[in-house]
Amino acid sequence: MYTIGLGRAMVSRYLALAVLLLIVVAIGVAMMLNILITRFIGVEKGPEGVDTYGEIGAGVEPANVTIVFRDNVVLLPYPKIRRGVLSTEEAIAYRRSIRDYADRPISIVQLSQLLWATYGISETRWGLRTTPSAGATYPLEIYVVVGDGRVSLPDGDSLKAGVYRYDPHTHSLALVRAGDFMVELSSAAVNQRWVREAAINVVICAVYERTTRVYGERGYRYVYMEVGHAGQNIYLEATALNLGAVVIGAFYDDWVKGIINAEDYEHPLYIVSVGIPREVYRVSEDEIAEYIDGRRRDRGLVD
Ligand SMILES: Cc1cc2nc3c(=O)[nH]c(=O)nc-3n(C[C@H](O)[C@H](O)[C@H](O)COP(=O)(O)O)c2cc1C
Repeated sequence: MYTIGLGRAMVSRYLALAVLLLIVVAIGVAMMLNILITRFIGVEKGPEGVDTYGEIGAGVEPANVTIVFRDNVVLLPYPKIRRGVLSTEEAIAYRRSIRDYADRPISIVQLSQLLWATYGISETRWGLRTTPSAGATYPLEIYVVVGDGRVSLPDGDSLKAGVYRYDPHTHSLALVRAGDFMVELSSAAVNQRWVREAAINVVICAVYERTTRVYGERGYRYVYMEVGHAGQNIYLEATALNLGAVVIGAFYDDWVKGIINAEDYEHPLYIVSVGIPREVYRVSEDEIAEYIDGRRRDRGLVD
């Protein structure tokens, strides 16, 4: 009896062990499959990916956005990867430097999308960004100068005028300095009218050391390349939102630095003015083809 009892106990112990092993193997296989599917096949998000945004650029806002304010930090609405809005070719073709803006605010949803496109997080393991970066050193710091009544909130109010710093990891804006500095920023940008007439100005600064620490002197050129990527991202996102943007390189560095309260080691490279365009720019395939044909004829490449 005793031995039979012992045998049963052993059998049930082995059985429990086998079941446990099976569960562990099943979990392992499921995890491997998940990694394989997301990495190599991609995941179709289904209907919820076709978001509730409709046409942001046309001023249609999602009904369910709430903006959270914590002390001096604004938690922006989560970035949306909108589908079927504008193709990449359309965004590239319709991108133009726009300097004439309507006297209307952009929305905080639009601002949120612009900032995410500029330098936001698009990879969640290492926190990689929408902009390529040499050695993922991310030398850029993004500030936003917001004028009085220039960024509307869902409740009909406006975002407090001031200078904000964008934190990509928390997708939030921290108020650095309250007040309307649009006119002063325009003066610092050799009085360029569009700087003061825009809804917002993004100021992109470089912290060279983050990149030169790794690449030495060559790091400087990498930083300049990166700011170009970020600038183009704003242009394309603005186009996709039916907004207008222009990058500004002509300004007094130290003056701009003072306006945004930048740290000594932060160096402004670009101001990017963004607003609601008075006119959107469009070009057709036929116009481009006609242009190309004309130049081909000029050069004797076609009859
Ligand atoms: C590095 C750089 C600096 C620029 N600086 C200014 C500027 O200070 N003011 C301005 O109105 N446009 C500025 N622009 C925009 C150019 O004038 C514009 O890109 C050019 O006229 C071509 O027009 P497009 O952007 O519509 O293709 C700058 C562009 C670059 C790339």
